[in-house]
Amino acid sequence: MAAIDIHPFQPVIISALVFLLLGLLINNPGCEAEDILFSGESLDNGASLQYGAYNLVMQQDCNLVFYQNGSKLWDSGTAGAGQNCSCSLQSNGKLIIKEPGNDQVLWQTYNYGFHDKYALAIQKDGSVVIYGPVMTKLHGAMTSDE
Ligand SMILES: *[C@@H]1O[C@H](CO)[C@@H](O)[C@H](O)[C@H]1NC(C)=O
Ligand SMILES: *[C@@H]1O[C@H](CO)[C@@H](O)[C@H](O)[C@H]1NC(C)=O
Repeated sequence: MAAIDIHPFQPVIISALVFLLLGLLINNPGCEAEDILFSGESLDNGASLQYGAYNLVMQQDCNLVFYQNGSKLWDSGTAGAGQNCSCSLQSNGKLIIKEPGNDQVLWQTYNYGFHDKYALAIQKDGSVVIYGPVMTKLHGAMTSDE
């Protein structure tokens, strides 16, 4: 396969690349288990993404926690920061945690970019990455080369 030259000012190409990349990373396309959060979507209080032994959980205590087989690998550090919190992936690629009906952002990732399509994915190597014109690593490696 020819190398793809990623240029930061080619959002259309990068968008296409994101979904190509996701297609390559996700080896269970027919499966309905939620392992991806697309921009515009939220994980409400108690909801989670799951991929194999890995879970990303928006907990009742307002902490967003990534577990491997029940052991915590990463968290947002927002335990007790609010009630009934949810995390949302915005159309600029930022992941934020808020309480419903409260504009205050309790936690966020700081990278953001063009309004476009982004997707947060748990990968099979146990990394959690937001893909899109701007990419953000929550945990582990940016890509899962095997
Ligand atoms: C999770 O636990 C199961 C059962 O002990 C084990 O077979 C598996 O390798 C573990 N997976 C990961 C990614 O740690
Ligand atoms: C918690 O938040 C969800 C999503 O914003 C909302 O639908 C639900 O009514 C809230 N529940 C409580 C008890 O505040």
